[in-house]
Amino acid sequence: MTTDWQALGKKILFNCTNRIPVTLARGKGSRIWDDKDKEYIDFVGGWAVCSLGHCHPVIVEAVEKQSKILVQSSQLYYMIPMLQIADSLVKNSCMNRVFMCSSGLEANEGAVKLARRYGKLKLNGAYEVITALDSFHGRSLAMTAATGQPHYQEPYEPLPPGFKNVPFNNIEALKAATTEKTCAIMLEPVQGEGGVNIPSDGYLKAVRAWCDEKGILLILDEVQTGVGRLGTLWGYQTFGIEPDIMTLAKGLGGGIPVGAFLSKEHCAVFQYGDHGTTFGGNPLACATAYAVFNYVLEHDIPGTAKKSGQYLLSGMEKLKDKYPFISEVRGRGLLAAIYFKEDISQALLTRCLETGVLVNSVKPNAIRIMPALNIPAKDIDEGLVRLDKALAGFLK
Ligand SMILES: Cc1ncc(COP(=O)(O)O)c(C=O)c1O
Repeated sequence: MTTDWQALGKKILFNCTNRIPVTLARGKGSRIWDDKDKEYIDFVGGWAVCSLGHCHPVIVEAVEKQSKILVQSSQLYYMIPMLQIADSLVKNSCMNRVFMCSSGLEANEGAVKLARRYGKLKLNGAYEVITALDSFHGRSLAMTAATGQPHYQEPYEPLPPGFKNVPFNNIEALKAATTEKTCAIMLEPVQGEGGVNIPSDGYLKAVRAWCDEKGILLILDEVQTGVGRLGTLWGYQTFGIEPDIMTLAKGLGGGIPVGAFLSKEHCAVFQYGDHGTTFGGNPLACATAYAVFNYVLEHDIPGTAKKSGQYLLSGMEKLKDKYPFISEVRGRGLLAAIYFKEDISQALLTRCLETGVLVNSVKPNAIRIMPALNIPAKDIDEGLVRLDKALAGFLK
C-alpha cells in the first residue's frame, strides 16, 4: 500500500506553511526527485542551505564518521569538533569569539543578547536594536520584532520591545532612529527573504562609520549570505566593511542544522551563565560543519559561486530580453531574483513543477534562485531551460 503523504501532512501537521504539492524523496548534487521519481533541478537548495548540493560525499562521510564517535554531549565540556569549527571560523574571519548553536534565529537571538549585554555594561543600559524593513531574522518572538515585515508581526503582537524597523538602504533613516537607548544596528548585507535587496555602494560603509561615531555595535546577519553565497566567503567582504558581531547558519552545515554567532574581542562581554543551549556545539553538527567549511576553503567555493552567479545572471538577462513581463533581474553570487510586472510568482512556481525546476516565490511578483554553491554549469543551463518553458506559458 502506498502512503498519500500530502493528505497525511494536511491532517497532522500545523498548516502554517503553504506547502507546495510535491513530496521530495531524495537528492543528489543540484537535482532532487519526488516520491514518483520525477526529477527537478533544485534552484532552492534547501532554502540556501545545501551549499555543496544534496548528499555531497564530504557531508555523508563526516556524518557517518562522527556518528560512530560521539553524537551529543554538552557545552559544559570542551568538545573537539566544536573547537575545530570555531577555530577555523575565527582564523578565516575578522572575528575572535564564537558561540555555536543550531539555527539562524538562535544565532540572531544570541547576537542581540550579546549587544544588549554590551549596552548594559558599556552604554549606560542602552538596549534598542535598529533593524531594516523587509529584513528577515527568524521566527522567535524577539526575531519577529526584529524582522521588519508587519505581516509576520501583527498576529503575535504585543512583541518584545527594544526593536525599531527603518527603511533599508537609507542611512538617514538609521541616523534618525538612533538614540541614547540604541546599542546596535542589525542588518543583512543583502536582504534575502525581503526579495534579494542589494544595498547601494557605500551604504554599509556609511552604516559602519555611523556605528563607530556613536560607539554602537554593528551586527551583520549572515545567516543567508555567509559561507560563500554572495561570491565572497563572508558577505561583509563584498561590501568592504567589518561588523562587530556576525551570525551564521544555513550554508554552514551544508544541510545539517548548525548555526553560530561570532564577535570581535571588544564586545565579547558574556560572562558565566549569560547564555547557553542544549544542542549548540553538538559534535555531529560541528564535525559536519568543519568538513563542509574545509571543503569550501580548499575548493574556493566562494570564487566558484561568484563565477556561477555571473553565468546564472547572464542567463536570467536573456530571459528578461525574451519575456516583456519580466521587469528586473538581480543577484549577487548565487542569491538571485527575477521580478515580474504582475503577481505571477505563485502560478509560475506551479508551472515550474510541471517543467521540472524548483524555484522560491519570494514575493507575489518575484522568484528567488539560490542553488547549491557548486552547481555545475549544465544544471544551471537545464534549470534555465525548464524555467524558460514555464515562463512561456505566461506570454499573452
Ligand atoms: C537572513 C536570515 N536570518 C535568519 C534566518 C532564520 O534562520 P532559521 O530559519 O534557521 O531560524 C533566515 C532564514 O531564512 C535568514 O534568511
